[in-house]
Amino acid sequence: ALVSMRQLLDHAAEHGYGLPAFNVNNLEQVQAIMAAADQTGSPVIMQASAGARKYAGEAFLRHLIDAAVEAYPHIPVVMHQDHGQSPAVCMAAIRSGFTSVMMDGSLEADGKSVASYDYNVEVSKEVVKFAHSIGVTVEAELGVLGSLETMKGDKEDGHGADRTMTREELLTDVAQAADFVARTQCDALAIAIGTSHGAYKFTRKPTGDILAIDRIKEIHARIPNTHLVMHGSSSVPQDLLAIIREFGGDMKETYGVPVEEIQEGIKHGVRKINIDTDIRLAMTAAIRKYLFENPSKFDPRDYLKPAREAATQICKARYISFGCEGMA
Ligand code: G3H
Ligand code: 13P
Ligand code: NA
Ligand code: ZN
Repeated sequence: ALVSMRQLLDHAAEHGYGLPAFNVNNLEQVQAIMAAADQTGSPVIMQASAGARKYAGEAFLRHLIDAAVEAYPHIPVVMHQDHGQSPAVCMAAIRSGFTSVMMDGSLEADGKSVASYDYNVEVSKEVVKFAHSIGVTVEAELGVLGSLETMKGDKEDGHGADRTMTREELLTDVAQAADFVARTQCDALAIAIGTSHGAYKFTRKPTGDILAIDRIKEIHARIPNTHLVMHGSSSVPQDLLAIIREFGGDMKETYGVPVEEIQEGIKHGVRKINIDTDIRLAMTAAIRKYLFENPSKFDPRDYLKPAREAATQICKARYISFGCEGMA
Protein backbone atom coordinates (compact mmCIF):
# COMPACT_ATOMS: atom_id res chain seq x y z
CA ALA A 1 0.00 0.00 0.00
CA LEU A 2 1.04 3.61 -0.49
CA VAL A 3 1.95 5.12 2.87
CA SER A 4 3.29 8.44 4.11
CA MET A 5 7.00 8.67 4.72
CA ARG A 6 6.39 9.70 8.32
CA GLN A 7 4.92 6.26 9.06
CA LEU A 8 8.01 4.48 7.78
CA LEU A 9 10.52 6.84 9.38
CA ASP A 10 8.77 6.67 12.77
CA HIS A 11 8.90 2.86 12.58
CA ALA A 12 12.58 3.02 11.59
CA ALA A 13 13.34 5.28 14.56
CA GLU A 14 11.46 3.03 16.91
CA HIS A 15 13.38 -0.03 15.72
CA GLY A 16 16.75 1.62 15.09
CA TYR A 17 17.18 1.11 11.37
CA GLY A 18 17.51 3.34 8.30
CA LEU A 19 15.67 3.28 4.99
CA PRO A 20 17.41 3.62 1.66
CA ALA A 21 15.46 6.00 -0.59
CA PHE A 22 16.16 4.99 -4.15
CA ASN A 23 15.76 7.34 -7.11
CA VAL A 24 13.68 5.95 -9.98
CA ASN A 25 13.45 6.93 -13.62
CA ASN A 26 12.24 3.81 -15.41
CA LEU A 27 10.50 0.46 -15.23
CA GLU A 28 13.55 -1.70 -14.58
CA GLN A 29 14.64 0.40 -11.57
CA VAL A 30 11.16 0.22 -10.03
CA GLN A 31 11.07 -3.54 -10.57
CA ALA A 32 14.55 -4.00 -9.11
CA ILE A 33 13.73 -2.08 -5.94
CA MET A 34 10.50 -4.02 -5.43
CA ALA A 35 12.17 -7.39 -6.03
CA ALA A 36 14.87 -6.48 -3.49
CA ALA A 37 12.31 -5.30 -0.95
CA ASP A 38 10.25 -8.44 -1.46
CA GLN A 39 13.24 -10.74 -1.03
CA THR A 40 14.33 -9.00 2.18
CA GLY A 41 10.93 -8.06 3.62
CA SER A 42 11.78 -4.35 3.56
CA PRO A 43 9.58 -1.24 3.33
CA VAL A 44 10.19 0.96 0.28
CA ILE A 45 10.85 4.63 -0.43
CA MET A 46 10.95 5.46 -4.14
CA GLN A 47 11.76 9.02 -5.11
CA ALA A 48 11.55 11.03 -8.30
CA SER A 49 13.86 13.96 -8.99
CA ALA A 50 13.08 16.89 -11.27
CA GLY A 51 15.35 15.18 -13.79
CA ALA A 52 13.31 11.98 -13.49
CA ARG A 53 10.07 13.86 -14.08
CA LYS A 54 11.63 15.51 -17.10
CA TYR A 55 12.92 12.19 -18.45
CA ALA A 56 9.90 9.97 -17.85
CA GLY A 57 7.09 12.44 -17.25
CA GLU A 58 5.21 12.70 -13.99
CA ALA A 59 2.32 10.49 -15.18
CA PHE A 60 4.64 7.65 -16.18
CA LEU A 61 6.56 7.82 -12.91
CA ARG A 62 3.42 7.92 -10.81
CA HIS A 63 1.85 5.01 -12.62
CA LEU A 64 5.06 2.97 -12.45
CA ILE A 65 5.07 3.39 -8.68
CA ASP A 66 1.33 2.67 -8.51
CA ALA A 67 2.01 -0.49 -10.52
CA ALA A 68 4.63 -1.48 -7.93
CA VAL A 69 2.05 -1.07 -5.17
CA GLU A 70 -0.44 -3.19 -7.11
CA ALA A 71 2.09 -5.92 -7.87
CA TYR A 72 3.35 -6.07 -4.26
CA PRO A 73 0.30 -5.31 -2.09
CA HIS A 74 2.05 -6.52 1.07
CA ILE A 75 4.89 -3.98 0.87
CA PRO A 76 4.44 -0.41 2.20
CA VAL A 77 5.65 2.07 -0.43
CA VAL A 78 6.35 5.80 -0.17
CA MET A 79 6.08 7.90 -3.34
CA HIS A 80 8.44 10.76 -2.58
CA GLN A 81 9.38 13.82 -4.55
CA ASP A 82 13.12 14.44 -4.36
CA HIS A 83 14.53 18.02 -4.24
CA GLY A 84 11.37 20.05 -4.84
CA GLN A 85 12.62 23.47 -5.89
CA SER A 86 9.62 25.56 -4.87
CA PRO A 87 6.36 25.30 -2.93
CA ALA A 88 4.54 25.21 -6.27
CA VAL A 89 6.43 22.09 -7.36
CA CYS A 90 5.66 20.41 -4.03
CA MET A 91 1.97 21.33 -4.15
CA ALA A 92 1.69 19.91 -7.67
CA ALA A 93 3.27 16.64 -6.55
CA ILE A 94 0.96 16.41 -3.56
CA ARG A 95 -2.08 17.02 -5.75
CA SER A 96 -0.97 14.30 -8.15
CA GLY A 97 -0.72 11.76 -5.32
CA PHE A 98 2.81 11.79 -3.89
CA THR A 99 2.73 10.80 -0.21
CA SER A 100 5.88 12.72 0.66
CA VAL A 101 7.76 15.72 -0.70
CA MET A 102 11.12 17.32 -0.20
CA MET A 103 11.07 21.10 -0.11
CA ASP A 104 14.68 21.93 -0.85
CA GLY A 105 14.78 25.54 0.26
CA SER A 106 18.54 25.40 0.72
CA LEU A 107 18.64 26.78 -2.81
CA GLU A 108 16.71 29.59 -4.44
CA ALA A 109 13.90 28.49 -6.77
CA ASP A 110 16.32 28.77 -9.73
CA GLY A 111 18.09 25.80 -8.16
CA LYS A 112 21.43 27.58 -8.44
CA SER A 113 22.13 30.13 -5.75
CA VAL A 114 22.34 29.32 -2.07
CA ALA A 115 19.18 30.66 -0.39
CA SER A 116 19.00 32.76 2.73
CA TYR A 117 18.04 31.06 5.98
CA ASP A 118 14.84 33.10 6.21
CA TYR A 119 13.78 32.08 2.70
CA ASN A 120 14.37 28.43 3.56
CA VAL A 121 12.29 28.69 6.75
CA GLU A 122 9.48 30.48 4.89
CA VAL A 123 9.09 28.05 1.98
CA SER A 124 9.54 24.95 4.14
CA LYS A 125 6.89 26.20 6.58
CA GLU A 126 4.48 26.91 3.76
CA VAL A 127 4.82 23.39 2.34
CA VAL A 128 4.51 21.78 5.79
CA LYS A 129 1.28 23.64 6.44
CA PHE A 130 -0.30 22.41 3.22
CA ALA A 131 1.16 18.89 3.33
CA HIS A 132 0.32 18.13 6.95
CA SER A 133 -3.30 19.12 6.50
CA ILE A 134 -3.66 16.07 4.24
CA GLY A 135 -1.21 13.64 5.85
CA VAL A 136 1.72 14.13 3.49
CA THR A 137 5.26 14.08 4.89
CA VAL A 138 7.79 16.88 4.36
CA GLU A 139 11.56 16.62 4.17
CA ALA A 140 13.45 19.91 4.27
CA GLU A 141 17.15 20.62 3.79
CA LEU A 142 19.41 22.84 5.80
CA GLY A 143 22.97 23.43 4.70
CA VAL A 144 25.05 23.30 1.58
CA LEU A 145 25.98 19.89 0.27
CA GLY A 146 29.55 19.99 -0.88
CA SER A 147 33.05 18.67 -0.70
CA LEU A 148 35.31 19.15 2.30
CA GLU A 149 38.21 18.20 0.03
CA THR A 150 37.76 21.00 -2.51
CA MET A 151 35.73 23.27 -0.18
CA LYS A 152 33.25 23.79 -3.03
CA GLY A 153 29.49 23.33 -3.16
CA ASP A 154 27.93 20.34 -4.89
CA LYS A 155 27.89 20.97 -8.65
CA GLU A 156 25.08 18.50 -9.34
CA ASP A 157 23.06 20.10 -6.57
CA GLY A 158 23.19 23.46 -8.29
CA HIS A 159 25.88 24.91 -6.06
CA GLY A 160 28.05 25.33 -9.10
CA ALA A 161 29.57 28.59 -7.93
CA ASP A 162 33.31 28.31 -7.87
CA ARG A 163 33.38 30.23 -4.64
CA THR A 164 35.45 28.50 -1.99
CA MET A 165 33.49 27.92 1.21
CA THR A 166 34.59 27.41 4.77
CA ARG A 167 34.21 24.12 6.61
CA GLU A 168 31.46 25.62 8.76
CA GLU A 169 29.56 26.81 5.65
CA LEU A 170 29.72 23.26 4.28
CA LEU A 171 28.31 21.66 7.44
CA THR A 172 24.81 22.06 8.85
CA ASP A 173 24.92 24.23 11.97
CA VAL A 174 23.62 22.47 15.08
CA ALA A 175 21.84 25.42 16.71
CA GLN A 176 20.37 26.51 13.39
CA ALA A 177 19.04 22.98 12.79
CA ALA A 178 17.18 23.12 16.11
CA ASP A 179 15.72 26.55 15.31
CA PHE A 180 14.79 25.46 11.78
CA VAL A 181 12.89 22.37 12.90
CA ALA A 182 11.08 24.27 15.64
CA ARG A 183 9.97 26.92 13.16
CA THR A 184 9.08 24.72 10.16
CA GLN A 185 7.82 21.56 11.89
CA CYS A 186 9.30 19.47 9.06
CA ASP A 187 9.20 15.70 9.54
CA ALA A 188 12.67 14.96 8.24
CA LEU A 189 15.77 17.08 7.80
CA ALA A 190 18.47 16.63 5.18
CA ILE A 191 21.82 17.76 6.56
CA ALA A 192 25.16 18.63 5.02
CA ILE A 193 28.07 16.57 6.40
CA GLY A 194 30.50 16.47 3.49
CA THR A 195 28.65 14.28 1.01
CA SER A 196 27.75 15.41 -2.51
CA HIS A 197 25.66 14.03 -5.34
CA GLY A 198 27.00 11.84 -8.12
CA ALA A 199 29.91 9.44 -8.55
CA TYR A 200 32.76 11.85 -7.76
CA LYS A 201 32.47 12.50 -4.04
CA PHE A 202 35.95 11.84 -2.65
CA THR A 203 39.38 11.29 -4.19
CA ARG A 204 40.23 8.84 -1.40
CA LYS A 205 38.36 6.65 1.06
CA PRO A 206 36.85 9.29 3.34
CA THR A 207 37.88 9.79 6.94
CA GLY A 208 36.51 12.20 9.55
CA ASP A 209 38.28 15.20 8.03
CA ILE A 210 36.23 15.02 4.82
CA LEU A 211 33.11 13.14 5.98
CA ALA A 212 31.72 14.62 9.20
CA ILE A 213 29.77 11.78 10.77
CA ASP A 214 30.37 13.50 14.14
CA ARG A 215 28.14 16.35 13.01
CA ILE A 216 25.25 13.87 12.72
CA LYS A 217 25.79 12.90 16.36
CA GLU A 218 25.78 16.55 17.47
CA ILE A 219 22.62 17.36 15.52
CA HIS A 220 20.83 14.23 16.70
CA ALA A 221 21.71 15.00 20.31
CA ARG A 222 20.10 18.44 19.91
CA ILE A 223 16.98 17.37 17.96
CA PRO A 224 16.49 13.68 18.83
CA ASN A 225 12.93 13.56 17.50
CA THR A 226 13.76 14.75 13.98
CA HIS A 227 14.45 12.12 11.36
CA LEU A 228 17.77 12.90 9.68
CA VAL A 229 18.39 12.38 5.97
CA MET A 230 21.70 11.75 4.23
CA HIS A 231 21.81 12.81 0.59
CA GLY A 232 24.64 11.86 -1.73
CA SER A 233 24.97 8.52 0.03
CA SER A 234 25.97 6.17 -2.73
CA SER A 235 28.95 4.05 -1.79
CA VAL A 236 30.39 3.91 -5.33
CA PRO A 237 31.51 0.26 -5.14
CA GLN A 238 35.02 -0.27 -6.50
CA ASP A 239 34.05 -3.61 -8.07
CA LEU A 240 31.40 -1.89 -10.21
CA LEU A 241 33.91 0.76 -11.33
CA ALA A 242 36.29 -2.07 -12.26
CA ILE A 243 33.65 -3.77 -14.45
CA ILE A 244 32.77 -0.49 -16.13
CA ARG A 245 36.45 0.12 -16.92
CA GLU A 246 37.06 -3.46 -18.04
CA PHE A 247 34.29 -3.26 -20.62
CA GLY A 248 35.09 0.03 -22.27
CA GLY A 249 33.92 2.62 -19.74
CA ASP A 250 35.97 5.64 -18.77
CA MET A 251 35.62 6.55 -15.09
CA LYS A 252 38.40 8.07 -13.04
CA GLU A 253 39.37 7.02 -9.54
CA THR A 254 36.67 7.97 -7.04
CA TYR A 255 35.21 6.98 -3.68
CA GLY A 256 31.73 7.15 -2.19
CA VAL A 257 30.29 7.01 1.31
CA PRO A 258 31.33 3.72 2.98
CA VAL A 259 28.40 1.62 4.18
CA GLU A 260 29.97 1.44 7.67
CA GLU A 261 29.84 5.24 7.95
CA ILE A 262 26.15 5.18 7.02
CA GLN A 263 25.59 2.50 9.65
CA GLU A 264 27.24 4.81 12.20
CA GLY A 265 24.84 7.56 11.09
CA ILE A 266 21.88 5.22 11.53
CA LYS A 267 22.93 4.73 15.16
CA HIS A 268 22.55 8.49 15.54
CA GLY A 269 19.23 9.39 13.98
CA VAL A 270 19.74 8.95 10.23
CA ARG A 271 16.52 7.34 8.96
CA LYS A 272 16.57 8.05 5.21
CA ILE A 273 19.58 7.45 2.99
CA ASN A 274 19.38 8.73 -0.60
CA ILE A 275 20.88 6.48 -3.25
CA ASP A 276 20.82 7.00 -7.00
CA THR A 277 24.39 6.72 -8.32
CA ASP A 278 24.97 3.13 -7.07
CA ILE A 279 21.98 1.88 -9.10
CA ARG A 280 23.26 3.76 -12.15
CA LEU A 281 26.71 2.18 -11.76
CA ALA A 282 25.28 -1.31 -11.25
CA MET A 283 23.09 -1.11 -14.34
CA THR A 284 25.81 0.41 -16.51
CA ALA A 285 28.36 -2.19 -15.46
CA ALA A 286 25.93 -5.00 -16.29
CA ILE A 287 24.93 -3.53 -19.65
CA ARG A 288 28.53 -2.84 -20.70
CA LYS A 289 29.56 -6.38 -19.77
CA TYR A 290 26.57 -7.98 -21.46
CA LEU A 291 26.91 -6.10 -24.73
CA PHE A 292 30.68 -6.64 -24.80
CA GLU A 293 30.23 -10.39 -24.33
CA ASN A 294 27.21 -10.64 -26.65
CA PRO A 295 27.96 -8.27 -29.52
CA SER A 296 25.25 -9.70 -31.76
CA LYS A 297 22.37 -9.10 -29.33
CA PHE A 298 20.03 -6.18 -29.93
CA ASP A 299 16.82 -6.86 -27.99
CA PRO A 300 16.75 -4.36 -25.08
CA ARG A 301 15.28 -7.08 -22.86
CA ASP A 302 18.47 -9.07 -23.24
CA TYR A 303 20.69 -6.41 -21.66
CA LEU A 304 18.08 -4.81 -19.39
CA LYS A 305 17.55 -8.13 -17.63
CA PRO A 306 21.09 -8.37 -16.24
CA ALA A 307 20.96 -4.62 -15.52
CA ARG A 308 17.77 -5.08 -13.50
CA GLU A 309 19.31 -8.03 -11.69
CA ALA A 310 22.43 -6.01 -10.82
CA ALA A 311 20.25 -3.19 -9.47
CA THR A 312 18.30 -5.72 -7.39
CA GLN A 313 21.55 -6.98 -5.83
CA ILE A 314 22.68 -3.47 -4.85
CA CYS A 315 19.26 -2.63 -3.35
CA LYS A 316 19.18 -5.90 -1.41
CA ALA A 317 22.64 -5.25 -0.01
CA ARG A 318 21.58 -1.78 1.20
CA TYR A 319 18.31 -3.04 2.73
CA ILE A 320 20.27 -5.65 4.65
CA SER A 321 23.11 -3.35 5.80
CA PHE A 322 20.71 -0.62 6.93
CA GLY A 323 18.69 -3.10 9.03
CA CYS A 324 15.45 -3.14 6.98
CA GLU A 325 15.10 -6.90 6.74
CA GLY A 326 11.71 -8.11 7.93
CA MET A 327 10.52 -4.57 8.77
CA ALA A 328 7.84 -4.35 6.03
O1 G3H B 1 19.38 14.59 -6.47
C1 G3H B 1 20.08 13.92 -7.23
C2 G3H B 1 19.62 12.63 -7.77
O2 G3H B 1 20.73 11.79 -7.95
C3 G3H B 1 18.84 12.83 -9.04
O3 G3H B 1 19.66 13.06 -10.13
O4 G3H B 1 18.71 15.10 -11.21
O5 G3H B 1 20.08 13.45 -12.51
O6 G3H B 1 17.77 12.87 -11.76
P1 G3H B 1 19.02 13.66 -11.49
P1 13P C 1 23.92 9.75 -4.87
O1 13P C 1 24.31 10.52 -6.09
O2 13P C 1 25.07 9.60 -3.92
O3 13P C 1 23.33 8.43 -5.20
O4 13P C 1 22.82 10.60 -4.08
C1 13P C 1 21.46 10.65 -4.52
C2 13P C 1 20.66 11.69 -3.82
O5 13P C 1 21.05 12.27 -2.82
C3 13P C 1 19.33 11.99 -4.39
O6 13P C 1 18.68 13.02 -3.72
NA1 NA D 1 21.48 22.04 -0.15
ZN1 ZN E 1 19.81 14.65 -3.01
